[in-house]
Amino acid sequence: MVKKRILSGMRPTGKLHIGHYVGALENWIKLQDEYDSYHLIADYHVLTTELSTEEIYNNSIEMLIDWLAAGLDPEKTPMFRQSQIKEHSELFLIFSMLISKARLERNPTLKEQARDLNIENIVYGYLGYPVLQAADILLYKGNAVPVGEDQVPHIEITREIARRFNNQYGEVFPEPEPLLTSFARLAGLDGDSKMSKSLGNAILLSDEPDVVTQKLRKAVTDPLKVRKNDPGRPDVCLVFTYHKKFNPAEVVQIEADCRSGVLGCVNCKLNCSVKINEFLAPMIEKRKAYERNIDRVKEILNEGEKKAKAVAQLTMKEVHQKMMMG
Ligand code: TRP
Repeated sequence: MVKKRILSGMRPTGKLHIGHYVGALENWIKLQDEYDSYHLIADYHVLTTELSTEEIYNNSIEMLIDWLAAGLDPEKTPMFRQSQIKEHSELFLIFSMLISKARLERNPTLKEQARDLNIENIVYGYLGYPVLQAADILLYKGNAVPVGEDQVPHIEITREIARRFNNQYGEVFPEPEPLLTSFARLAGLDGDSKMSKSLGNAILLSDEPDVVTQKLRKAVTDPLKVRKNDPGRPDVCLVFTYHKKFNPAEVVQIEADCRSGVLGCVNCKLNCSVKINEFLAPMIEKRKAYERNIDRVKEILNEGEKKAKAVAQLTMKEVHQKMMMG
């Protein structure tokens, strides 16, 4: 049986945090046997927020190392930069003729940013962000896109564009489905609903044990649990959500001991950092091995780009034929 294809990606914003892992990366690793997987470093998408290209390159390498350290296998899964496969730009241009400006302005992610930045200051390319993403996915004929919940509106736009193209020119593209993780996204250490490096509330996949312990010490808990033996409410406690993810075996006990007031926050956080550190230890080890052998990392990228390019060229050939541009 032919395997279904996955295409997913991330913007290279630097080293990844545990929220990236829980929200997407874990799923990518799990799915790489069942699906034919492709993963892209969205180094064009990131230009909507970051203009220093040297930094983008360094961030791309750091992110790739995190992917590899977490368990993406380059033998099974090509990993590549969007900018190195020119077909992305070409398909993006074609797709930009198949969707209205009004539809793109209804995109909730854009609206959110418009609120923060004021619509006048949004770059032209930002409006096309989901169109480029559609090109990313459909160039590889992705059937499934494992992403965080925030990306679902973009996948919907991808489906619409695929339908449009197929109706207009003939069947080329599948209509991809989003694949969500079962675990909701991780909140940041400050209790903000989003863990993000720029908000300074993240635990990085590459954080050494003492850093994790320090960070957790400052994490918010139930604000009503002031003294050590006050009864707490695990359901409103951020650290408890981390236990659920990284310490499932002890969750029932922790919940009971927090509620009864037997367990204080200091000990609970220490225990949590031990578990997170156990989880991160093999990744940190692997990361160090890759850091000592950057040439190998670049080779992996190179090989991934070659494989991706071959698929992209085939798709564009089909596109040109259907559009009678061949
Ligand atoms: N928009 C995604 C994000 O911000 C990154 C991305 C770019 C992507 N191209 C993609 C995700 C294609 C899935 C498929 O995280």
